[in-house]
Amino acid sequence: MCGIIGYIGPKSVVPVILDGLKRLEYRGYDSAGIAVVDRGEIRVRRVKGKVKDLEDSLREEPLQGTYGLGHTRWATHGRPSEENAHPHKDCSGRLVIVHNGIIENYLALKQKLRAEGHTFKTETDTEVIVHLLEKYYRGSLEEAMRAAIGEIEGAFAVAALAADEPDRIVAAKQGPPIVVGLGDGEFLISSDINAILAHTPNVVFLEDGEMAILDRSGARFTDFHGVPKAKTVERVSWSPLMMEKRGFKHFMLKEIFEQPEVVRDTLLGRMSLDTGRVMLDEIGIPEATLRRVRKAVIIACGTSYHAGLVGKYLMESLAGIPVDVEYASEFRYRDFILDPDTLVIVVSQSGETADTLAALRAAKDRCAAVLAVTNARSSSIAREAYGVLYTNAGPEIGVAATKTFTAQMTALALIALYLAQVQERMDHAALLEFIQEFQRIPYKMEKILGRAKAVEDLAARFVSFSHFLFLGRWVNFPVALEGALKLKEISYIHAEAYPGGEMKHGPIALIDEKMPTLAIVPEDRVYDKMLSNISEIKARNGYVIAVASDDDARIRERVDAVIAVPAAPPLLMPFLTAVPLQLFAYYIAAKRGADVDQPRNLAKSVTVE
Ligand code: F6R
Repeated sequence: MCGIIGYIGPKSVVPVILDGLKRLEYRGYDSAGIAVVDRGEIRVRRVKGKVKDLEDSLREEPLQGTYGLGHTRWATHGRPSEENAHPHKDCSGRLVIVHNGIIENYLALKQKLRAEGHTFKTETDTEVIVHLLEKYYRGSLEEAMRAAIGEIEGAFAVAALAADEPDRIVAAKQGPPIVVGLGDGEFLISSDINAILAHTPNVVFLEDGEMAILDRSGARFTDFHGVPKAKTVERVSWSPLMMEKRGFKHFMLKEIFEQPEVVRDTLLGRMSLDTGRVMLDEIGIPEATLRRVRKAVIIACGTSYHAGLVGKYLMESLAGIPVDVEYASEFRYRDFILDPDTLVIVVSQSGETADTLAALRAAKDRCAAVLAVTNARSSSIAREAYGVLYTNAGPEIGVAATKTFTAQMTALALIALYLAQVQERMDHAALLEFIQEFQRIPYKMEKILGRAKAVEDLAARFVSFSHFLFLGRWVNFPVALEGALKLKEISYIHAEAYPGGEMKHGPIALIDEKMPTLAIVPEDRVYDKMLSNISEIKARNGYVIAVASDDDARIRERVDAVIAVPAAPPLLMPFLTAVPLQLFAYYIAAKRGADVDQPRNLAKSVTVE
């Protein structure tokens, strides 16, 4: 959580930092701030609210300078307020920092620093870092940073400036990401490449235990002991245009509409219609290891967990391998049992989710095959897993995950097919047929998106409802969970999801005319059972909207409204049924005037535990 940005170069720093903060705002948006150095003085401006509010304040009273730091916050310690907003200064006002992460021993440090005479002005954990810098500063910010972080326990991406040491930014990483941009005479640090790309595609990803020292001539890197580190410069292929809304009202809507392309890009070069084979040598886990796999455990949080659940059904049906799906935040604290023939798959869009990363580390100690499915190249999870399968979804800016969910399902389906192939669980004809059907999915998604207006009109009728129920069974149960999550997080409407067959065990008591149900009812092995579940709801005056196949005539007599999607093989239906549920949530939230791309209390990258 929180986004940090720093710039040093010839440009006026304020617009560069404001632009960067807008691109990082998905990481947190309860307060924002900036520090620039102007004629030997550090000038700080902070506001409670969004980057837009900071921009307004800077318009009224501008700041000048050509290097500085910015921060957008997602509060952990200390409520959102101007005072708690970063950057934070030391007692002298000559040092300033921005921080992303959590300092676990901050209370002990605060007491100690107070006893040593430091005055604290905020409720944050972060402020201890700047007072530690003050304590150790003897003319070298780099040295002071090294000494300060030696006393800190926890996770941090931190960047600092010293008024007495002009033209220098020092950053350190232990946990949350820091990427350094190496432009032409200008240098940046950021929590995410998307804030850097407008300036340069050339980046260096810091590893844990590393520092970056930026000045006007370039960037150098060291470890926490001061030993120089040679780093590889990577060229990022994402274009700055991918980060624009391109005529859509919100990023989320744009990202929903990008899904056909995302499925195509994630499949590209990984399966062949000619040979009927799946090619996943890139994942870096030897085929021989995968041949021995007898069980899989998928670990993730939130939407990625839902994609993992879809992956479970695919893997069990296609590869005949038993699969458990675990919440990372639960798994990591369990006395879990993993035998050497278990394949662990961690799924994370950002590749930085703290619980998922911790679960990955715990699993690594006990098993040989740990594979990451992530959208973020060089993220912590990508680097630490033994193998990686990247989802080629491009940058997702909307805080609510949509296209990355689809991309994760695509990647997990590929893994299921690959396991089936290496373990010879599917004959060639069946594999080829599945591949052919998979290739058709993007076209079918395009059809659904072409009917978005019908979903919008339907959504308009439900804007003022306060409760929704989502039902699905078998491979569409996770889609029901995801549909409910999307509605909750962006429209703040209470929504619950259940497997259709569980209704009669309790939740049916909730049904009345004020609680509509969205039921996912493709013509699959549980179709008739879902029809019975729908009848039970109708008998209790419940309103039912069905997501059903185009050619299903029967369903229309049994429900109040139908959102039709093209038919596909049952195991591929989640790719299609998920789309109208995303649209439904989007249109309801947009019509309620909600902040769709930046829902309250949320942040895109959850680097706290
Ligand atoms: C919901 C959403 C979150 C994330 C979760 C995991 O729309 O985006 O539930 O799915 O925070 O994030 P990653 O996938 O980055 O590990």
